Formats: sequence, structure tokens, C-alpha cells
Amino acid sequence: MSSLLVLGGTGFVGKYLLQNADLTSYQTIYVLTRDRHKAFSLLGSKPVKYIEAELSNISVIAKVLEEGMDIVNLLRPPSCNLSAFIKSLCSILLAANEKKARRFLHCGTAAVVGRSSQTLIDETTSCHPFTDYEKDQFAIEKRVCSLPVNHLEIVTLRPTAIFGPGGKNLLSLADRITSSSTMKQVSMRWFQQDRTMNLVPVGTVAEAISFLCKFTGNLQGEIFQISTDQEALNQYRLLEKWIVSRLNCANISNLQPQRPDWFFSLVSRGLGRSNIAPHRRYSADKLYSLGFQSKVSFEQALEEFLDWYLTTKTMAA
Ligand SMILES: NC(=O)c1ccc[n+]([C@@H]2O[C@H](COP(=O)([O-])OP(=O)(O)OC[C@H]3O[C@@H](n4cnc5c(N)ncnc54)[C@H](OP(=O)(O)O)[C@@H]3O)[C@@H](O)[C@H]2O)c1
Repeated sequence: MSSLLVLGGTGFVGKYLLQNADLTSYQTIYVLTRDRHKAFSLLGSKPVKYIEAELSNISVIAKVLEEGMDIVNLLRPPSCNLSAFIKSLCSILLAANEKKARRFLHCGTAAVVGRSSQTLIDETTSCHPFTDYEKDQFAIEKRVCSLPVNHLEIVTLRPTAIFGPGGKNLLSLADRITSSSTMKQVSMRWFQQDRTMNLVPVGTVAEAISFLCKFTGNLQGEIFQISTDQEALNQYRLLEKWIVSRLNCANISNLQPQRPDWFFSLVSRGLGRSNIAPHRRYSADKLYSLGFQSKVSFEQALEEFLDWYLTTKTMAA
């Protein structure tokens, strides 16, 4: 049995992965944290071993690297000093390669595609990162993937907007439905219409990571988008309607004129947004073609999010 090292295990995705995904094939799970007490309060009694260190503390991290190990990188790029972050990450990768670790799963983002003119995005679509976040993520991805490795397989994951308990996506929509004026909701609904939301449940992302950890074939250099854009509810109007009914909020009139797509693109461009296409979809066909199957239901994941949202709101009140 081998071991697993999770970088960023105390974050939104990392916590969900460690608490819910099937990682039983690993004998030991190490979690990098900058604060052991915070990590313990988040992950509770999970049988993991903490490495209390900054990413830059390579010598401490290198001590746990070993032959056959898998590493999952869920670190969020810092808002400053990106080059130091990339340097540290690359040093860990090269040390892992030296030690003959097996696989490094790097979690980036589907947003690196940036201002693409394509409506259906897959892993072959050329990237034109637009925002600082996209540019940073793309720079990390490119650097990590270009490292000279002979043992370690470097695999890039590109999830779309991840939602779930503790996540930030969907918060503003839920807040708007529960607290905004009817006028604001009506104008937002008119502007958004049936825009694809590009949401993916955190449970699906955790399952995909676990699946790719277990996958026995060679995945060196592969990139996988993780998305659930095929879900009918993954569009603004239906999603809003669904949340309104689950939260027992007053429904607002559906009688609205069509908003032309060019208007959405124009305003989004003016607001400095990256994705200016209302119907952009990210394909996860490549991942599914490997045999991946998600047991997570999109609706159940939404219920889970709303339960968490209501509990958090009640506690804050
Ligand atoms: N959330 C989304 O919707 C989404 C969508 C697509 C892609 N992604 C990508 O998926 C990855 C995980 O996202 P997330 O939302 O789970 O991120 P997150 O909640 O912000 O968690 C980031 C984690 O990184 C750790 N970390 C950051 N800098 C570190 C350093 N210098 N040394 C040690 N640990 C460090 C944090 O640890 P501390 O607890 O010590 O701060 C935390 O555990 C990120 O790359 C993100 O960009 C996220």
C-alpha cells in the first residue's frame, strides 16, 4: 500500500476530499498545513498525519516523499509573489520525481481558457487567460507540466466553478434570492436568462480526484476538465427557480422579454469578465471516457449546499 500527500488539504476542496472521498487504498495520508490546530479543528479525527510547514519549506516536505506516493495539489495560488510559489512547487515536484513518487495531480481551473471564442471547451481548446487569476493559474500549469520528469506522472485537473458546503460559488445567488429587492432579482434574471452556470459539485471533483489517483494506466502530461455542464439545472433561470422553491421564497413573474446574447457579451466585456459567452460549456468527455462515473447527484449537491447555507445564516443571525 502506498501513501498520499495532499497540499492544500485544509481548503474547501481538500477538506471535502479528505472527509468524503474513498482514499482507503492509501496506507498513510499526509496533509500539508500552515496551522496544525486549525487543520485538526477542520478535519477532526481523520486518520491523517500533518506536516506543519509553509510550501517553501522544501526540506520538511521532502522528508515524507517516497517511492510510489501520490500527491494531490489543491493549493490556491497566492495573490502576490507567484514566482516564489511556483519555484517551491517545482522543487517539490522534482524532489518527488527523485524519490520515484508515482503521480502528481495538479488542480488548476477550467477558467484558464479565458477569452476563448469557442462555445464548447475541451482540453484541446487553446487558452487565452484574461484575468490575473487565470493568468496565474495558466503560468503554474505551464511550468509544472514542462518539468523534466522520468518517474513522476504529472496530471492537470481543470474543474469549473466548484460549489458545496463552505464554498463561495452560489453564495451571491442565494443571498440575492433571500435578501434582494424584487427589482434587483428581476433585472438580474433578465440579464442572466438561461446562461450556463458552469457549476460542478465539490463531491464530483473529489470523486474525480480519487478516481484519477486510483487509475492504473499512464497519465503523464494529461489534462482533464471536470464539469457537469450537461446537467439541465446548470443554467441561471432554472437554478434560480429551483432555489426559490427550496427556500420557500416568493416567486417573481416569469414574463420577461428575451435578452439578446450580444447584449450579455457587451456588458460582460465592459465589466472586464473573462467569459463573455452566455452558453459556454466545458466538456468532461475525456474524463468519462477513462471510465469515470460520478455517484453525486447535482440536485442532492444543491440540497447539501442550501442546508449548509441556511445553517450558516441562522448561526450568523
Ligand atoms: N473553489 C473553486 O470554485 C475552484 C474552482 C476551480 C478551481 N479551483 C482551484 O482548486 C484549488 C483548490 O481550491 P479551494 O477553493 O479548495 O482553495 P482554498 O479553499 O483557498 O484552499 C487553499 C489551501 O491552500 C493552502 N495554502 C495556500 N498557500 C499555502 C502555502 N504557501 N503553504 C501551505 N499551504 C498553503 C491553504 O492552507 P491554509 O489553511 O494554511 O491557508 C488551503 O488549505 C485551487 O487551485 C483553486 O484555484 C477552485
